[in-house]
Amino acid sequence: MKTLVGMSILITGGASGLGLGAARYFIDAGSRVTICGRRPDKIAAAQQTLGDACCAVVGDITDSDDRQTIITAAVEHGGGALHALINNAGNMYRGAITDLDEKALLDVFNTNVVAGMLLSGLAVPYLEDTEGAIIFIGSVHTRRAFPGASPYAATKAAVESLTRVLAAELGEKRIRVNCVVPGGVYTEINQRAGLFDDETALARLQGMASLHALGRIGTETEIAEAMAYLICAEWTTGATVDVDGGLGLGLSQG
Ligand SMILES: NC(=O)c1ccc[n+]([C@@H]2O[C@H](COP(=O)([O-])OP(=O)(O)OC[C@H]3O[C@@H](n4cnc5c(N)ncnc54)[C@H](OP(=O)(O)O)[C@@H]3O)[C@@H](O)[C@H]2O)c1
Repeated sequence: MKTLVGMSILITGGASGLGLGAARYFIDAGSRVTICGRRPDKIAAAQQTLGDACCAVVGDITDSDDRQTIITAAVEHGGGALHALINNAGNMYRGAITDLDEKALLDVFNTNVVAGMLLSGLAVPYLEDTEGAIIFIGSVHTRRAFPGASPYAATKAAVESLTRVLAAELGEKRIRVNCVVPGGVYTEINQRAGLFDDETALARLQGMASLHALGRIGTETEIAEAMAYLICAEWTTGATVDVDGGLGLGLSQG
């Protein structure tokens, strides 16, 4: 089993939520982390909080020039190496199937699926040198069907398939590809999508506590622990690891 000490890790969308929690966790464990995001104020605040072990890049993963800039920055910050790419950046889009907006649908696929595929391709030469890892972030939306969430759920089903195919494809390069499937953790994903304010988003999530076998929602750190395992586990590839407190089990009372 590898350790996180001295690793160079790129986390897309690392200025908030699960990505920020993971950046903090990896830096505390001795890694050098590069994060990216589109909002300069968020990126600057994250950089300030995380300190010199963090390189924070303002960049949009759906833009090809930005993708190259982000990868180059991560390799430079890592002293010429990249040990892990975490395709974490993601957006929520939901709506009834009769009401979907084509541009919004293409945008969410572009961010949640296509950009991560293209970034993964750019990262391969560096990950091959380190026998590194790619991690995709899925969602409990592939385990439980939430009416009205078909766009988001479909993107997350896509990353689970990608995980298996890329694990098969990149195994000969000794690159491992895995997926963490989180349950409900309070972040800003729904607020950024304009769905709820902070208070309502938290109340809705807390209202789902009893649907979890373990009776509560999760934390960023609990998701980061699974990411850390998948970065370090040398004989695990093509796996999807559910870290959801049992939400995906579909508990029933009877
Ligand atoms: N929270 C949960 O309960 C939960 C559950 C299952 C899965 N997930 C997944 O976990 C991942 C992280 O989400 P989160 O919940 O932590 O939400 P979040 O706090 O909103 O974080 C997502 C981050 O992605 C960044 N981002 C979005 N589009 C981007 C783009 N085009 N280029 C660069 N950065 C971009 C956002 O920053 P900018 O807007 O500034 O770019 C934001 O910081 C997502 O893939 C999400 O689907 C979350």
